[in-house]
Amino acid sequence: MAITASSMIRVLLIEDNPGDSRLMELLLSEVGGFDMTFADCLASGLARLAANGPDAVLLDLSLPDAHGTEGIDAIRKAAPDVPLIVVTGLQDEDMALKAVQHGCQDYLIKGQGDGHSIRRTILYGIERMAMDQERRASAERLKQVLRQTVRTVSLALEMRDPYTTGHQRRVSQLAGSIGRRLGLADDMVEGLETGGLIHDIGKIHIPAEFLSRPGKLSAEAFQVIKTHPRMGWEIIRNIDFPWPVAQMVRQHHECMDGSGYPDGLKGDQIILEARIIAVADVFEAIVSHRPYRPALGLAAAMEEIERHSGTRYDPKVVAACLDLVREKDGAMPFDEDPTDIMRLSS
Ligand SMILES: [Fe+2]
Repeated sequence: MAITASSMIRVLLIEDNPGDSRLMELLLSEVGGFDMTFADCLASGLARLAANGPDAVLLDLSLPDAHGTEGIDAIRKAAPDVPLIVVTGLQDEDMALKAVQHGCQDYLIKGQGDGHSIRRTILYGIERMAMDQERRASAERLKQVLRQTVRTVSLALEMRDPYTTGHQRRVSQLAGSIGRRLGLADDMVEGLETGGLIHDIGKIHIPAEFLSRPGKLSAEAFQVIKTHPRMGWEIIRNIDFPWPVAQMVRQHHECMDGSGYPDGLKGDQIILEARIIAVADVFEAIVSHRPYRPALGLAAAMEEIERHSGTRYDPKVVAACLDLVREKDGAMPFDEDPTDIMRLSS
């Protein structure tokens, strides 16, 4: 909300002490410009918050039904964007800091300051919340542009290599599901999905006829194709992603026993995200239809990752992937069925 000097500011005061409430009302009525409503406990405060949608909330930290940061948490949950100023009788800097960490914009100490300084604190709290919202919206817009860019780059590669249409998208999805299954934080899962979406970006460097050639690859062709993790890393290593996407791309063909490429890394030397993408990658490839062979089915994919668990693949990643697939009870662990030949050829 844009506040101007002449705006009437609707304030909800949640305070159980009638004397403190009256004093606050008096101080603010002296400076004018406030339309106040009152609640004497958190529960009625939350009800008024929902009914009135005030411009700011003043919250006492010691209420009959909420103590300390409980009230802040409840209000933040009910109204994440309402400017919130804590009013406390405790001259406790630690509590004030904690209150800010829990999402209030400022705090007032009872008995300190006059109506003008309280007004300033309320206005500042409203402005600060508006700036926070703008900052969050702009960060979200940037993230959205990043997602769209990554999706577009992913599509560009798949347009060049139509036989793998949707491959990176499905690897991204399966990798994300495995990550969640392993209990990774949301942000790490988002990084994993981003890495999955462009893990084969280095194939843009491989001649198209090598990529789409049916049948078994010659040793020479295989040597060329094996350059794609390093080429992918070269392409994206200067992008300052908030996740280690370049390493995911470079390491997605490394194996736990050191037999992979390009660097022959072993075990923990391979980042967890790359170990997850490796499993999702082979799984998706096996269950997908290819022009030179039919889809090999879920059982074959499960057998493959299980057989190489501990040698090629991280056993805990394999176990998580197998759990996921079993839970699906015969259905593909992707939104799109990679064996849908009609759709793939359209
Ligand atoms: Fe690859």
